[in-house]
Amino acid sequence: MKINGTHWRSIWWIDAQRGVGIVDQSALPHVFATLELPDWQAVAAAITDMKLRGAPLIGVAGAWGVALAMRDDASDEALAAACTALAATRPTAVNLGWAIERMRAVLLAHPPHERFEVARAEAAKITEQDVALCQAIGRHGATLIREAHERLGRPVQILTHCNTGWLAAVDYGTALAAIYTAHDEGVPLHVWVDETRPRNQGLLTAWELAAHGVPHTLIVDNAGGHLMQRGHVDLVIVGADRVTARGDVANKIGTYLKAVAAADCGVPFFVAVPSPSFDWTLSDGLSQIEIENRCGKEVRFVAGLDDAGRPAKVAIAPGSTHVSNPAFDVTPHRLVTALISERGACAPADLHLLFPERIQAQ
Ligand code: MRU
Repeated sequence: MKINGTHWRSIWWIDAQRGVGIVDQSALPHVFATLELPDWQAVAAAITDMKLRGAPLIGVAGAWGVALAMRDDASDEALAAACTALAATRPTAVNLGWAIERMRAVLLAHPPHERFEVARAEAAKITEQDVALCQAIGRHGATLIREAHERLGRPVQILTHCNTGWLAAVDYGTALAAIYTAHDEGVPLHVWVDETRPRNQGLLTAWELAAHGVPHTLIVDNAGGHLMQRGHVDLVIVGADRVTARGDVANKIGTYLKAVAAADCGVPFFVAVPSPSFDWTLSDGLSQIEIENRCGKEVRFVAGLDDAGRPAKVAIAPGSTHVSNPAFDVTPHRLVTALISERGACAPADLHLLFPERIQAQ
């Protein structure tokens, strides 16, 4: 996507010495900065610290991390150690484990002296595949938004949660790809952007939408239900970090509450999900998906700019307050109107039609 006329991706290969470059998401929306990650340990730290984030992107970053590990030591032992450490950085999004397992399988078929070159080629493939999947999701999602516009005869009011744009993938994004594509095709729309406490990924969404000229309004997380009750939301589109074979969706904390409100108000609830975000081995998301619990400091402090425009962090709760910080929740398939994948959109019950090789009819 373009920032001030320049095309950026969220991650890129620099060279064998300097490793990969990323957009530092922890500095946004106030400062646009890039970072170099010279080795797999730096990649792992950037994932843990959420300098890069978003299920598709952490999968791609994990693949590049494995490639950098092979540059330094291409033995079976080093491969196993790097894969294990990278996979442990964040547990909920399945893309990370998917990409690392794909890298491991390809690399084990080659002798150590070939592994760095093979790993670079495979990580590049995973990167380009992510871009293509997101573009396809954008086309399918835009069709749903266009249909809503034709039905309503006015701008479509869309609510989204977290950040699912090009920052969360390599380019375009997932749920936001649908919005970008519809907007670029001339479909009039407006986006309600949840702030998404505690990490405020909604601010990244607002920043992305502003850069692309998409009309939007930032709201606090608790405003969505109220807006839906008053008919100000025509559809909800969110992304996913892990989707089970029956269509249960793990996504950013707060997604479930939006889905409950949408069901109560008769608002369609769409989930944009590239195939690497499906976990076909799982069925019941509530009991089977591990939910990441993050540090309580993320709840106790808010970050922003002070009166002088300098980056600042302020405490909003005393250190003695007990806090809990689950980063994701699970929306049961019964609350999902349709899953939008690169193969098209379908109700969770019809997933076997889109992915017959993965799932048998129930
Ligand atoms: O914790 P994050 O910011 O990495 O989580 C990302 C999300 O949960 C997003 O909502 C998203 O849907 C998955 S990435 C497109």
